[in-house]
Amino acid sequence: MITRRLLALAAVPVLVALLAGASQGGGATPGAAGAGDPYFPQSGDGGYHVVHYGLSLGYTPATGKLAGTAVLTSTATQDLSAFDLDLSGLTVSAVVVDGSAAHFTQSGVKLLVTPAAAIDSGSSFRTTVTYAGKPAPVTDPDGSADGWITQPDGSSFVAGEPQGAMTWFPANGHPLDKSAYDIAVAVPHGWTAVCNGRLVSQRDEGSSTVFAWRESRPTAAALVTASVGKFQVSQDWTASGLPVYNAVDPREAAAAAPVLAQLPEVVTWESRMFGRYPFDSAGAIVEHAPSVGFALETESRPIYDRAPDIDTLVHETAHQWFGDSVSLTSWKDIWLNEGFATYAEWLWDAQHGGPTTAARFAAAYALPASADLWSHPAADPGGAARLFGTPGYERGAMVLEKLRETVGDPVFFSVLRTWATDHRYGHGDTAQFVALSRKLAPGSAKALDALFATWLYGQGKPAQP
Ligand code: ARG
Ligand code: ZN
Repeated sequence: MITRRLLALAAVPVLVALLAGASQGGGATPGAAGAGDPYFPQSGDGGYHVVHYGLSLGYTPATGKLAGTAVLTSTATQDLSAFDLDLSGLTVSAVVVDGSAAHFTQSGVKLLVTPAAAIDSGSSFRTTVTYAGKPAPVTDPDGSADGWITQPDGSSFVAGEPQGAMTWFPANGHPLDKSAYDIAVAVPHGWTAVCNGRLVSQRDEGSSTVFAWRESRPTAAALVTASVGKFQVSQDWTASGLPVYNAVDPREAAAAAPVLAQLPEVVTWESRMFGRYPFDSAGAIVEHAPSVGFALETESRPIYDRAPDIDTLVHETAHQWFGDSVSLTSWKDIWLNEGFATYAEWLWDAQHGGPTTAARFAAAYALPASADLWSHPAADPGGAARLFGTPGYERGAMVLEKLRETVGDPVFFSVLRTWATDHRYGHGDTAQFVALSRKLAPGSAKALDALFATWLYGQGKPAQP
């Protein structure tokens, strides 16, 4: 009996491999096209992990053309006969895997690569993709555009959440896959290219200047940037010696200056609230891109489509803990990013002469039952087309205010800090956050069950505030 059951179980993967049509490499199969996210099923590839991206790019603002090579150092998480990368609108001329030319095709937003030999599970492999084209943003299910967004003057606003990384480099694009990055961008003299992390070198080569940037902490592809502009650059340090690199479009400089002057203080204040700052650099990219309509928490150096106000600066900086260091496991958990960053704004305002967090909660609660924030649970805001809707942001912040009211300040801030520490440079999901809250407030189990059922998982306007 036992033997037969074991045999039956062992047959399952073999059958799956046969059905998938994998004949090569003794059972190696293609990586699943898509990491399996319910909101963005096509995003990423389930069969390998990218440890490091080395991007060498050249960008010409006058023509809007980008050309480059991407060198991906990856680890196979299964025996891999083929794999895919997300890439939209750019043309690939060559793919080399471990020194041998690989077969490749481009179909929709997928680059499908079949290496000359199958890759064993657990082994490291290097993929070099040579590509070029005129990058254009993708339109998301919510109608917004993200990715490489060329501005009328040729500058680039580059913000890839949720799926725009693929508009400028081949990526395993789901936030489940986080990687280190080295990015070198050649631009004509007079232009500046700004990416994440630290500026490793800046050198002139012929008529170009090459900016080389390094972010060694794990970064989701969506949060990588290579923004090019005629920026005013300023460098500064926080009280604890963290380097701050700001790049500001001259048209926004006057409006941005007083807010950016507060960035070191915001980082210091948030480090007190949330625990140590997770990265080795900070800063801001401020563009003049009013048609974009959003800012993004690009890792270590958020990007703003205009001079930010203090709330937006506090919000994107808070994402460095919640969203960048602790990343989403699934897009439907977006409240773990947006609810937390919104709550950071409430906290900052309350401690800097504004309304209390209780008053912010009351103002949100006063919204009519027909208001958008009651339309979906914070824990699942209604699909990809509603990813950045108010349930994740406002209702998400309300969940945290209720939690604070229920467990008290010491436990509440301990939950936030423990969350940031336990999942630092990794991932978290809603169930894990609920479990942590329960663990740190064992005396409030009943109250927490009710709170999460109503405010986090519940739909509609709760009867009581
Ligand atoms: N996460 C960004 C924020 O802090 C919003 C990104 C919006 N992206 C988009 N494609 N609409 O709030
Ligand atoms: Zn946000």
